[in-house]
Amino acid sequence: MSLNLERVEERLSTQAIARRLIYLTSTTSTQDIARREAEAGAAHGTAVIAEEQTAGRGRLGRSWVSPAGKNIYVTLLLRPELARLRVLGMAAPLAVVRAVESVTGLAPTLKWPNDVLLSGRKLAGVLIDSELSGSAVKYALLGIGVNVNFDIPEGSEIAPIATSLKREIGSEVSREDVFAALINEFEQLYLHAPPEGIRDAWRQRLETLGREVTVTFRGIVHEGVAEDIGADGSLLLRRADGSQLVVEAGEVTLRAP
Ligand code: BTN
Repeated sequence: MSLNLERVEERLSTQAIARRLIYLTSTTSTQDIARREAEAGAAHGTAVIAEEQTAGRGRLGRSWVSPAGKNIYVTLLLRPELARLRVLGMAAPLAVVRAVESVTGLAPTLKWPNDVLLSGRKLAGVLIDSELSGSAVKYALLGIGVNVNFDIPEGSEIAPIATSLKREIGSEVSREDVFAALINEFEQLYLHAPPEGIRDAWRQRLETLGREVTVTFRGIVHEGVAEDIGADGSLLLRRADGSQLVVEAGEVTLRAP
């Protein structure tokens, strides 16, 4: 079933975010459309939402499985200050967590840097493409994918690692309710929460901290204990030889306790 835009509108309480909503039945990636809009001068807060993506993208060059009519695929075009840009990757997953909690009562956790998990499986992901001109931010494209009513195919590559709200609850969840709650929560954080407050709330949800992890980035594998988070959200890894490594990006795998 298609997204009911009237139901979304009734639930949105934002000033700027998603006040202009570009709704597409199918597209390559909402990031592509949002970039085109940004380059054409579209306003801060413009949201591009699609029923289906034929070339959905994930972090680190991966693809994002995006079947039609099941999930949320949205890109928010933002024109933030540099300090806000730095916390977008924390504010967005936190907004997903809060939206899922308020709509379903489930309590997702986070895997560094910005995966949202339920039962240890991935429920949602965040992709940020930003354009800078010197130290000024031209725009940021905040892409969020949430698996809502996705019937994850048995035996598929993603079956062991992905989940959806429907899979966790056993019945369909309103995409409109989740989307509106997500946008409302995100704007609250974006407008009103200080960067340290966002970082602390995000840090509290990270299930990665204190765990033995493997971090892979650009083919290099690091192992150690995920000891803490730096002021900028980087992961502080304590290696077996006692040295500390600051990891700014990568994919974390939790090792068995
Ligand atoms: C990840 O966890 O790897 C990030 C996934 C981001 C997926 C969203 S869906 C909306 C937007 N359009 C895309 O092509 N990707 C992001």
